[in-house]
Amino acid sequence: NIPVITIDGPTASGKGTVAHLVAERLGFHMLDSGALYRLTALQALRREVPLTDEHAIAKLGEHLEVTFKGDAIYLGTENVAHAIRAEEVGNMASKIAALPTVRQALYSLQLAFRKTPGLVADGRDMGTVIFPGATLKVFLTASTEARAQRRYKQLIDKGFPAKMEDLLADLQARDARDMNRAVAPLAPAQDAHLLDTSQMSAADAVEQVLAWYAQVRHK
Ligand code: C5P
Repeated sequence: NIPVITIDGPTASGKGTVAHLVAERLGFHMLDSGALYRLTALQALRREVPLTDEHAIAKLGEHLEVTFKGDAIYLGTENVAHAIRAEEVGNMASKIAALPTVRQALYSLQLAFRKTPGLVADGRDMGTVIFPGATLKVFLTASTEARAQRRYKQLIDKGFPAKMEDLLADLQARDARDMNRAVAPLAPAQDAHLLDTSQMSAADAVEQVLAWYAQVRHK
């Protein structure tokens, strides 16, 4: 029985950072499920597949040739780790994530990340849809302002242009789409531990997750 820790939450809640650090501490594998939606979105944008062609977009997802290697994310032989973080790609990812056939297309790909000695999975529906039997489920939240600040810093650090006003609006639109979509809407699993990181450092959030995991790992 391979352990799984799911870390779900809204855009820029700190999931990615916390999940990576927890995986590192435990020596577990890591699934950045948002990257799969971003990769599919990047392909759709590059090939100019319109949002209305749900079937064609799902096909792109189903046939993703993705390899995660440290910080690199390969699509075929091209490292697109940087390209998929662009705001345009994030917005497209959030739109295609509302398409049921796209979510279905990425389902088995995500399950395949569960390997010994364990997995930390970060996303929106890791604890509710993909790994409902996870060993530990965490749902991170943070105020809209705290999240917009984080996204701003992330973008600037990566050399992308960013305007606070636009980011706040994008964040709210993304939250609304994630929470209101018909399939896998963003919500904590019933048995998830909630963690508000508005006033909390990533290091402290990691300690909390590890403490929760220590309580359940032998159950
Ligand atoms: O987490 P990240 O911002 O990289 O995810 C990009 C988009 O993919 C999100 O805005 C969300 O709509 C979607 N997503 C999802 N389910 C997941 C992970 C991401 O719907 N498990």
